[in-house]
This record gives sequence, C-alpha cells and structure tokens, in this order.
Amino acid sequence: MQIKTVGVLGCGLMGSGIAQVSAASGYKTVVREVDEILLKKGIGRIEKFLADGVAKGKVTADARDRTLGNLSGTTTFEALKDCDLVIEAIVENLEQKTETYAALEPLVEPHTILLSNTSSLCITELAAATKRPDRFGGLHFFNPVPLMKLVEVIRALTTSDETYQTAFEFAQSLGKEPITAPDRPGFIVNRLLVPYLLDAIRAYENGLGTLEDIDKGMKLGCGYPMGPFTLLDFVGLDTTYYIANIMFEEFREPLYAPPPLLKRMVLAGRLGRKAGRGFYSY
Ligand code: 3HC
Repeated sequence: MQIKTVGVLGCGLMGSGIAQVSAASGYKTVVREVDEILLKKGIGRIEKFLADGVAKGKVTADARDRTLGNLSGTTTFEALKDCDLVIEAIVENLEQKTETYAALEPLVEPHTILLSNTSSLCITELAAATKRPDRFGGLHFFNPVPLMKLVEVIRALTTSDETYQTAFEFAQSLGKEPITAPDRPGFIVNRLLVPYLLDAIRAYENGLGTLEDIDKGMKLGCGYPMGPFTLLDFVGLDTTYYIANIMFEEFREPLYAPPPLLKRMVLAGRLGRKAGRGFYSY
C-alpha cells in the first residue's frame, strides 16, 4: 500500500521524534496532542532538534525547512482523517489508548493502518480493541527517535500480511532498520535490556560499586554508549518500572521483578533526567 499522509497521535518525547522522522522522509505528517500547550512543547522539541542539527552541520537548512513544511500540528482527530497510516504514541495506558482509537476510527478511511509505538502493552489486545484488527500492528521506536536506527515491527495474532509488510517497508522508508519482534512483553530489545537495568540496580544495592564506577565499567568495558544508571535516568525510572511490572506479571520470573529501590525512587518522583533527579541530579 502506498503511504502519502501520516498521522501521529501524541507529541511527547516519542511522538515528536516519530513525527519528525516521518516529515523528514517526505510524508505529509499531522501530529495530534490533547491541548495546545503540549502540542507547542512537542513541536518546539522538533524545531530545537533541527536547529541543533543545522548548527552541528548534520542537517541542511533546506532539509530543516522541508521537514517543517511537511509537518502540521493539531488538537483534533478530524485533522487526521486523510492519513493512510497513523502511529499512536500516547501514554502507556490501555484505557486511554483504546479511547483514542475509538475517537479516531470513525473518521479515517477503511484502508488506514493503525500502529502503536507501545513499549509494553500487548499488541493483540490493542488490535482487538479496534474495528480493524487486521490493519493494526506495533511499530516500536527507540529514544532518541531521530538518532536511533532500530524499529521493532510487531504483528498481533490478527495483523494481515499486507499490514505487516506495509509497516516494515514504512520503517525502512524512514531510514530505519526494522526487525521482526514477537508480541511478547518487551518485544526483543526491552526483553533483554530491562533485566540488565534491573540487575544493575540490584547489584548497586548489594554494594557492587558506586553508580559512577558501574556506569564507567559498562561504558568503557563493553563499549555501551551509556552506563546502566545514565540509561535508566535517560529512559525514565517510571517507564522502566512500568515495563518491568508488565514483564513480571506475564512471565512470573524473578529477573523481571522490579527491585525495591526502583519502586521507591518512582514513588519519590525521582524519575530521571526529565524530573531533574534520578540516580543522578540534572
Ligand atoms: N541533529 C542531527 N544529528 C544530531 C543531532 C541533531 N540535533 N544531535 C546529535 N546528532 C548526531 C551527532 O552529530 C552524532 O553524530 P556522529 O555520530 O555522526 O558524530 C550523533 O548524533 C550522536 O550525538 P552526540 O555526539 O551529540 O551524542 P552522543 O554521542 O553522546 O550520543 C546518544 C547520544 C545517541 C543518545 C547515545 O548516548 C546513545 O545511543 N545512548 C543510548 C540510547 C539508548 O539506549 N536508547 C534506547 C533506550 S530504550 C528505548 O528507547 C525503548 C523504550 O521502550 C524504553
């Protein structure tokens, strides 16, 4: 199926990144937020990334202008009615996601494909909540979206071959490297990444080393771009805690159980970089 116009639901950290790469790849892109304040913040994030890119010599002024020219923001669902493909990147809440799909579906064309960027919810369950379970799938991006090459493509039990193929090719058209991931909690990357992050917290609690030394060890010893605590603060402790709980609920294996310190840091609001404080202060 040929995709011309792309809709993005949610203009937070992930939604704004997805809208940016879609617009940069030549798609007319409409991004929706729930109110003007959040929309302005999200579009501002895109403008800043592009401006920084120009200043660093990584993005041409022409490419910046073309990207911004392809992009429009809205607070309505109606503005997405001509979209061939819609990517949902709103909060990780099943009820809010299904309500959003119910509001959007009557407005878009029958051929429109709906993809969720969820990092933890069950794609088959989300698909079943729509009236187009065959035209529904998962398209999981990584933070920061404009820089991370990977996209996981996930099929629900009900996803048609055509929808899957379209999603896969769409990811490629964004300049990303898609991989096929199963509809299981954590897909491929978080299934391996989250237990590693949880284990780092447990090891720290058991006195393995200082935060700085553990981070330095993994960064310089393994060539990881960030140590586990820098990455936890970057991803968000609340996000990690949420994903860990979903994985633990499904598999009931201790390696997915969130360590007590993680829960308490979330309860204390030490969510990482976005909160100004996590394992480190910002
Ligand atoms: N425009 C264009 N290019 C830009 C840019 C901009 N505004 N800002 C940076 N870049 C380019 C840089 O020029 C550089 O390019 P080069 O490699 O060709 O020189 C590259 O992007 C890296 O940028 P920086 O040098 O400024 O920054 P770092 O080298 O410190 O890298 C990082 C930053 C890419 C975030 C790196 O630290 C990293 O990869 N960290 C790990 C991130 C990660 O693991 N993400 C996944 C989290 S898990 C997830 O998202 C799943 C979810 O479900 C939880």
